[in-house]
Amino acid sequence: MSTDSTNGTGPAGHASDNDLVIRGLRVAPVANRETEILQGIDLTVRQGEVHAIMGPNGSGKTTLAYALLGHPAYVVTGGEVHWQGRDILALSPDKRARLGLFLAFQYPTAIPGLSVASFIRSALNAKLQGIDKNDDVDPTDPMKGGISMRDFRNKMREKMAMLKMDESFAVRYVNDGFSGGEKKRLEMLQMAVIEPQMAILDETDSGLDIDALRIVAEGVNAMLNPNLGVLLITHYQRLLNYITPDHVHVLAQGRIVKSGGKDLALRLEEEGYGPILREAGLEINVSDEALLVPQAPGEDLQAVH
Ligand SMILES: Nc1ncnc2c1ncn2[C@@H]1O[C@H](COP(=O)(O)OP(=O)(O)O)[C@@H](O)[C@H]1O
Ligand SMILES: [Mg+2]
Repeated sequence: MSTDSTNGTGPAGHASDNDLVIRGLRVAPVANRETEILQGIDLTVRQGEVHAIMGPNGSGKTTLAYALLGHPAYVVTGGEVHWQGRDILALSPDKRARLGLFLAFQYPTAIPGLSVASFIRSALNAKLQGIDKNDDVDPTDPMKGGISMRDFRNKMREKMAMLKMDESFAVRYVNDGFSGGEKKRLEMLQMAVIEPQMAILDETDSGLDIDALRIVAEGVNAMLNPNLGVLLITHYQRLLNYITPDHVHVLAQGRIVKSGGKDLALRLEEEGYGPILREAGLEINVSDEALLVPQAPGEDLQAVH
């Protein structure tokens, strides 16, 4: 993949600060540092691009998402990740988020007692303050670069309307008693209000119902813009019928074994992972059936726009 700069912010041949650049990333679980799950990932995601990462169960997809956001259960054993001119691996998860990185969790946590509105407002304020927590910016003061309560409410209303969400959602407690679909909606709402520059979405390997699939597809499509890069991690080819990726990467045994355009996702749907893994010279010690790309439930999914 080329890393030539196209926006003039970096010398030709080098990635620009507006690209998420992953080089030789190796990651192991903290509990077992000798067993690397990711064994050298190279990937460049530019703002304005949608990259899909597909791979069989256990290939390291979720580990990649967690490592990029600094999950404490994982340790980076090698490689670099650059974003906005910084080596983000040296930064806390909080600082990564302040730099405009966003991770939608596969298994979001409930926070009883904290309302959706307060939660999103504090996340937005943190991002407005930026990584250096600039004292001149008071996130609560619109005269000092912050967002007023009124503007925040309007923004929430606008984004909830875009995502076809009921306004009562804002006063509920974060993920408390939420259905699977509601949890997905909350992730999309956070993303819509916070307006990250790079979103990493890890889609669940199981239990992604038709409703959740549609919510994610509609949400992401509504938010796509030239200032947003998307790394869409998914087990389901089907999702890619509704979010058209610019690039598709196949992750297997901790490495990207093949990259291509959206046709690669179609090939995976037809052939499963088996042939591509064999081409990559990987030993396959699971049944071919386990390597089939599962169809998302609800074959009658209506096209979403
Ligand atoms: N915290 C952890 N400790 C030990 N092993 C882990 C941990 N997280 C993931 N693994 C193992 O690493 C492999 C990849 O896991 P994961 O990244 O969740 O894969 P995927 O999301 O592609 O299904 C699996 O074999 C999994 O059991
Ligand atoms: Mg996973």
